[in-house]
Amino acid sequence: MAPELLWLWVTLAVSILYYLLTSQRRRWGSRSGRRPPGPRPLPLIGNLLDLRGGNLHHTLARLARAHGGAPVMRLDLGLVPAVVISSRDAAREAFTSHDRRLAARAVPDSKQALGFCDWSVIWLPCSDPLWKTLRGIVASHVFSPRSLAATRAVRERKVRDLVAFLRGRAGREVDVKEAVYGGVVNLVSSALFSVDVVDVGGESAQGFQQLVEELIESITKPNVSDLFPFLRALDLQGWRRWVTGHLGKIFRILDGIIDRRLALSSSNNGNVHGDFLDVLLELMSTGKIARENLTFILFDLFAAGSDTMALTVEWAMAELLRNPGIMAKLRAEIKAAVGGKKESVDEDDVAGLPYLQAVVKEAMRLHPVAPVMLPHKAVEDGVEIGGYAVPRGCTVIFNTWAIMRDPAAWERPDEFVPERFLDREFDFRGKQFEFIPFGSGRRLCPGIPMAERVVPLILASLVHAFEWQLPDGMSAEQVDVSEKFTTANVLAFPLKAVPVIIT
Ligand code: HEM
Repeated sequence: MAPELLWLWVTLAVSILYYLLTSQRRRWGSRSGRRPPGPRPLPLIGNLLDLRGGNLHHTLARLARAHGGAPVMRLDLGLVPAVVISSRDAAREAFTSHDRRLAARAVPDSKQALGFCDWSVIWLPCSDPLWKTLRGIVASHVFSPRSLAATRAVRERKVRDLVAFLRGRAGREVDVKEAVYGGVVNLVSSALFSVDVVDVGGESAQGFQQLVEELIESITKPNVSDLFPFLRALDLQGWRRWVTGHLGKIFRILDGIIDRRLALSSSNNGNVHGDFLDVLLELMSTGKIARENLTFILFDLFAAGSDTMALTVEWAMAELLRNPGIMAKLRAEIKAAVGGKKESVDEDDVAGLPYLQAVVKEAMRLHPVAPVMLPHKAVEDGVEIGGYAVPRGCTVIFNTWAIMRDPAAWERPDEFVPERFLDREFDFRGKQFEFIPFGSGRRLCPGIPMAERVVPLILASLVHAFEWQLPDGMSAEQVDVSEKFTTANVLAFPLKAVPVIIT
């Protein structure tokens, strides 16, 4: 190599190294506000070693405690600055004073695949007109009272199917998550596009669920492109290429479902399925939405809605089996309202059961299935929370697990006590910042109207139809409610129980 060229390379390498080594200081050097406390970052890798092992939400809470209980904590994720919010008061300040400025997403590089993040309601920034349109459509059409009423029969039928499935296994040990998961996935896919994707559907539909699960898993895989953004173009681990292939397969299945429906509706002169796809096709025919949007909306709603509801039911069942007194109280409430009158529970029944609602809320508080939500991102300078600066471009992580166990907000925060939700009114809309299982502000989960119908309905149906026993020799205290963070907050040891038909 010619000496001039060699010198050029050396100068370039030294400059890059200098830039990287000093960039941590520059990123946090804010014009206003103090730098939040946090563990000391190492050059280049920042605090990655501090996050090794354990469950992410537990590790973040432990680190915050180690830094004086920091409600706002600083971390460097490789070269990416991040702030972790861990208390009710910090969450209140973030959502009331800075919601708009914090409502973009820190988009993983792999979600750039097939332009996914430019079409998906989950990843688009709130400032994007398409995000506003999609959220408007989901709120006013997909989950409108009219459309929810139209799809109610499907939901109730799918819950009856789940109960029938369990009746077929009565007296035998079942994996509660597996059973509930199949039922919920079919419920969501049927409500969305009238296809069962578990057990019964066609080959391709079954493959669909597997593909979606694998894709969701890929979000949590560590990717150097996300930690060292200057390497993004190289896609060194191949995650973007992998997601491109996977997403392509998922979209082909969804496109097949949509196109078959379009062909059918043009030959039938109308849509007759009574599902959300009908609603979306109607919007498309009036020009309110484009054909390409349909695939993304169906995918987003399916991916965001299935696991979350199934896991919430499993957590509630685990706590009920661990607390027989609470199970008995709930059973008595359900029996008093529906027992004897009819065989199955319906949506009207569950809406009027305060203890059932309290059990669901307490399960969500103690074991939120999305304990760190999805990462937000600061899009403007000037954000200060608790007197600490949150610089533009910073990833913002809401540790809702820690927020919903904040001892300043809850008595005996680590215990399962549904009664606390009888004493005070709480809803799911994220206005009381100590209870935000669905988030808050602009990015509040749009699926609440469906989740608040389905989760209590399934739980009430399971308790109404069966006496639940623990596997041989196991006592209630032995039900293990340890958590494990995978793509969501799951039980470290899947819940096993025996459904016994009540005679
Ligand atoms: C128990 C059930 C559920 C829980 C606990 C839950 C929780 C959440 C949370 C915490 C977020 C992120 C909020 C944020 O980042 O600030 C979210 C977003 C979202 N959820 Fe849910 N969710 C549930 C059910 C559903 C259902 C049934 C659907 C639809 C069928 C759904 C669709 C979505 C979508 C599309 C987003 C992204 C919204 C956006 O980024 O603008 N969710 N959910």
